[in-house]
Amino acid sequence: MKRILLIVGGGIAAYKACELVRLCRKAGIGVKCVLTEGGQHFVTPMTLAALSESQVYTTLWDLKDETEMGHIQLSREADLVVVAPATADLMAKMAAGIADDLATTLLLATDKPVLAAPAMNVRMWQHAATRRNVATLRTDGVTVLEPDEGPMACGEYGPGRLPEPDAILAAIQNALETGGRLKGKHVLVTAGPTHEPIDPVRYIANRSSGRQGFAIAEALARLGAKVTLVSGPVALATPAGVTRVDVETAQEMANAVASALPADAAVMVAAVGDWRADAAPQKIKKGAAPPNLQLSENPDILALLAKSPHRPKLVIGFAAETEQVIEHATAKRARKGADWIVANDVSGDVMGGDANTVHLVTAQGVEHWERLPKSEVARRLADRIADAL
Ligand code: CTP
Repeated sequence: MKRILLIVGGGIAAYKACELVRLCRKAGIGVKCVLTEGGQHFVTPMTLAALSESQVYTTLWDLKDETEMGHIQLSREADLVVVAPATADLMAKMAAGIADDLATTLLLATDKPVLAAPAMNVRMWQHAATRRNVATLRTDGVTVLEPDEGPMACGEYGPGRLPEPDAILAAIQNALETGGRLKGKHVLVTAGPTHEPIDPVRYIANRSSGRQGFAIAEALARLGAKVTLVSGPVALATPAGVTRVDVETAQEMANAVASALPADAAVMVAAVGDWRADAAPQKIKKGAAPPNLQLSENPDILALLAKSPHRPKLVIGFAAETEQVIEHATAKRARKGADWIVANDVSGDVMGGDANTVHLVTAQGVEHWERLPKSEVARRLADRIADAL
C-alpha cells in the first residue's frame, strides 16, 4: 500500500483536508496526519485520527513519539509528503528552510517528494513574497498546485481557494503513480495569443491571456495525462507536471504542434492570429504616409490537425464568438473537422478575465456551462476528455 504523510496547516480550508483523508483511504492510500498548531484551531486531531485510522501527530516535544517514531521516521515511512492546506506562512517557512514545529521540521528533514496544495486569501496568494516563495519551492522540486479561483471564505473573489479534494487526490495519485483517469494518455494543448511581426520591433497580437488554456493543461495533468502545452507569449507560470513549448507566431505554433504528435487528444485553445504580415527586415521609419501592411493567411492549425493522418482520436477546438454563438460554433465544428467545439461568449469582457460562460458543441448536441471560473471549465472539460478516451 502507498502511504502519504499529510500535513494540515492552519486555514479555514483545513476542513477539506478531512474529506481528502477519506478519499485517500477509499483509494487505498495509507494516511498519517500531522496537524499544525494553527490547523488545530480548525479541525481536531480526533477527526483526522478517526478518518485516517491512525494516530495524529501535533508536537515535536512528545518524548514518546521522538523515541518511537522520530520526526525523520515519520516522513521516512511515507512515499509522499502532502501539505494541504499549505498556508502562506507554511510555504514561507518551507521556502526559507525554517524548522520551528513538527510540520516544518518534517518538511526540512524529508527526502521524499513533497506536494503542496495552497489555500489563502487572494491578496496573500498574489503578494510578491508568496510569488517568490512559490517560485523557490518549485525550483526546490516541490510540486505546488495552483489554487482554485472563486468566492473565498473572507468574502473576496479570486485565486486562493484550496483545490477540491478530488483534484488533490488526483495529484497525489499522479505523484504516487497509482493512476489518474488519463494515465498513459498524451494530450496536446495550445494556448495564448500569437505575435505576428511587422518589423523587428512591432507585431500584430490579440487580447488572449492564455489562462483558459493553461487551466486546461493543468486539469489534464491532474488526471495523470502527459500534457504538452504549446503556448504563445503569455505571462503565466507553467502548471505542475506540464511540458511547455513556447512559440511566438502561428507558423511556429503549427510546427510545434506537428512535432508534439502523436497525441490521444488535442485541445486547441490558442487565439491564433488569422493573418501574418510580410515582416520588414528593418524597423519601419515614420514617413510621409502610413505603411501598407501586406497580410497573408496563417495556417489553420486546428483544421490541419483534424485532417492529418496523425489525427488524435479526439480533436477539440475553441470558438470565441460575440454573436450567434452556437450557430457559429456549430458551423465551425463542421468546417474545421473538430469533434467538439467549446464555444465561448466573448461579448462581455471574458478575455483575460476569471469567469467564462461556454457551450460544449458535440455531435450529440449542445451543453451550456454558465458563468464558471476558468478552472472549473477546465476541470469539467478534462473530465469529459477522460470519459471519451
Ligand atoms: N485555430 C487554429 N489555427 C488558426 C486559427 C484558429 O488552430 N489559424 C483554432 C483555435 O485555436 C480555435 C479554433 O481554431 O480552437 C477557432 O478559432 P477562431 O479564430 O474562432 O476561428 P476562425 O476560423 O478564425 O473563425 P472566425 O471567422 O470566427 O475568426
